[in-house]
Amino acid sequence: MNKKVLVTGGTGYIGSHTVVELQNEGFEVYIIDNLSNSDINVLDGITGITGKRPAFEKIDLCDHEKVKAFFSHNPGIESIIHFAAYKAVGESVEKPVLYYHNNLVSLLNLLTCMKDFNIPSLVFSSSCTVYGQPDELPVSEDAPIQEAVSPYGNTKQIGEEIIRDTIHSCEQLKAVSLRYFNPIGAHPSSYIGELPIGIPENLVPYITQTAAGIRDELRVFGDDYDTPDGSCIRDYLHVVDLAQAHVVALKRLLEKRNKGNYEIFNLGTGRGVSVFEAIESFERVSGKKLRYRVVDRRPGDIEKIWANPALANNEMRWSTKYSLDDAMKSAWDWELSYRKNK
Ligand code: UD1
Repeated sequence: MNKKVLVTGGTGYIGSHTVVELQNEGFEVYIIDNLSNSDINVLDGITGITGKRPAFEKIDLCDHEKVKAFFSHNPGIESIIHFAAYKAVGESVEKPVLYYHNNLVSLLNLLTCMKDFNIPSLVFSSSCTVYGQPDELPVSEDAPIQEAVSPYGNTKQIGEEIIRDTIHSCEQLKAVSLRYFNPIGAHPSSYIGELPIGIPENLVPYITQTAAGIRDELRVFGDDYDTPDGSCIRDYLHVVDLAQAHVVALKRLLEKRNKGNYEIFNLGTGRGVSVFEAIESFERVSGKKLRYRVVDRRPGDIEKIWANPALANNEMRWSTKYSLDDAMKSAWDWELSYRKNK
């Protein structure tokens, strides 16, 4: 099995955790990242955990010439895990052209290079955002794709379609799209974790920053939803579980165990958790009371969604191992360790 793998966005949150799991499985990892939303010091964190520094090049994937030059200088790479993308929902509404340009041109450049340099295997970072508010829960992969509520979400939908059409047009290429639910937490070593730049948009970093005294209080976006406690429900999974799923998906392609040249898997726990339950979990594992206040609903929020992960469980033999409390504890440990060492 060829073990040279390119990880785009490998210094980002999910990317860095995946690099660790790949190295633990003996892969030789090359990272491309433009560092637009990540820090070069993440490489030290990865090296601290695995004892092996991944190869790194600061390249903007939208620069086709540089991407081509990378593959010319690094022969033997046979697979790519593609994380690099902009991901802030609110910003994408304000700057749609930036989002479409960055997220789609980078994917097109990679696919062009996959053909030109005979790189057959791709794992793509997609999102449960493609389901919108599903009619049936838990949501399976064959649920209808809904009109995207944000340009960011649309780049994931269009990205999946571009990959599907490209795979159909070229027998040598194969891909897996992984639709993540809500990744949270950090590596148990606290060497790497989520590093939001500016004010976090996502729930868990906002919780940990509030508890650390960086934010005044968490705003709970709505308690009048049609859910048992009135707050929104999501499927939160530990980022290490998610990272391991990428290794499993990649090996499936490399060992030719895939059924069809383009496969799609949900990655979640299968369990829905409300915002209030997430807060309770945080308070339980940290021993701290969280300051929060219920405010209006956030525009564009989905009321409730959680995964049916049966396909990934049965086909990939992957399932989540960490609990919500484990994930919250690791997020809190990471926040404390990051603040201490800053
Ligand atoms: C969001 C994106 C989703 C993207 C994902 C990436 C939206 C509508 N969706 O998902 O497309 O793939 O991030 O990580 O933005 N909450 C609060 N207070 C906060 C922050 C969040 O109450 O300060 C609530 C939200 O209303 C939601 C839950 O916490 O119910 C999770 O929010 P978040 O972490 O932003 O994730 P999603 O909205 O699920």
